[in-house]
Amino acid sequence: MSPTLSTAAPTSQSLPPPPPPPPPLDLPKYLQDSQLTQECRDLLSILPTEKGWLSTHLHQYQGFWYATRHMQGVLSCQKHFKAHDTDILLVTTPKSGTTWLKAITFALLNRENYPDTTQNHPLLTANPHDLVPFLELKLYVEGQCPDLAPFGSPRLFSTHLPTVSLPESVTASSCKLVYLCRNPRDVFVSFWHFTNKLRLHNMGTNSLDEVYDKFCRGVSIYGPFWDHVLGYWRESLEMPHKVFFLKYEDLKEKPDVNLRRLAEFLGCPFSAEEETEGVVDEILKLCSFDNLSNLEVNRIAKLSSGEENNTFFRRGVVGDWMNYLTDEMIERLDQITEQKLQGSGLKLRCVL
Ligand code: A3P
Repeated sequence: MSPTLSTAAPTSQSLPPPPPPPPPLDLPKYLQDSQLTQECRDLLSILPTEKGWLSTHLHQYQGFWYATRHMQGVLSCQKHFKAHDTDILLVTTPKSGTTWLKAITFALLNRENYPDTTQNHPLLTANPHDLVPFLELKLYVEGQCPDLAPFGSPRLFSTHLPTVSLPESVTASSCKLVYLCRNPRDVFVSFWHFTNKLRLHNMGTNSLDEVYDKFCRGVSIYGPFWDHVLGYWRESLEMPHKVFFLKYEDLKEKPDVNLRRLAEFLGCPFSAEEETEGVVDEILKLCSFDNLSNLEVNRIAKLSSGEENNTFFRRGVVGDWMNYLTDEMIERLDQITEQKLQGSGLKLRCVL
């Protein structure tokens, strides 16, 4: 039997589909605001807001400042992330040496799987941020609940979240936190360069003075810097088995000593055999600024969020602030640092 041909006039249902909406502005992902849920929008509408360094706005949530794009990830991570007792979280404020810490810890934990650091090692072909993802900036950034099963055990993640905003399960579980801090003068200068590099041509650059004032007032991503550092410093004093506090400057000065301390803390100390074989030095060489920054993946590739990998490698030294900050700037920054750290026992070195 032949099929019946319809002779009816086309209804609206059979009209061709409307043309696709115009493509979104050709912005890298890190400049786009993610799809915000109504809950997130409602929250943003009541939070204190300031102009951002890179993103249009920064919002103050639980005492710290976040770009609009990241708020969804922060909320989603707080709500859904369930820490395992065996998890390891690497924590920093931006520009404190996160990339370096990720590389070192990844190499340390995976040294049995990848004994040869010169061949077939994941760090030779992948940026450390791809190997150790940020919870709120990558895994939960779009507000989704990611499948974390492929991470095996122990799971290695990172975050810039301050202590007060960590998901509850992080505090409740026996997972371990490694915090890396850096002196505020170098953090500020590094941050200024970083955000200017990520700004598009038509956005111009931020003047040092303008963002310096914001930094001092605590208005920078995950700022106030001092409150962030102090939160983890105190936790590390109260719970030294849970929070390991490291300084960029110490890692620069005595990388081998600090790598051994980190290995002990994470429960995977170097064996006598490994010491004889020079495993500590091999890891440090693999993760050195010169080695990582010259790898093809870190010279020409990008993260899925659009940042070029080379933006995470600039000079990698202690004391570059000398080339940028005026005496008045140093004085104001030092005054704040002194005031904030007073009585905490924490000392931050600006030179080696
Ligand atoms: P500078 O801008 O002062 O050079 P983060 O990884 O938290 O974004 O921090 C970036 C800073 O760490 C940059 O500092 C970068 O050069 C430095 N850095 C990146 N990799 C490093 C490495 N392997 N060793 C030392 N410093 C490194």
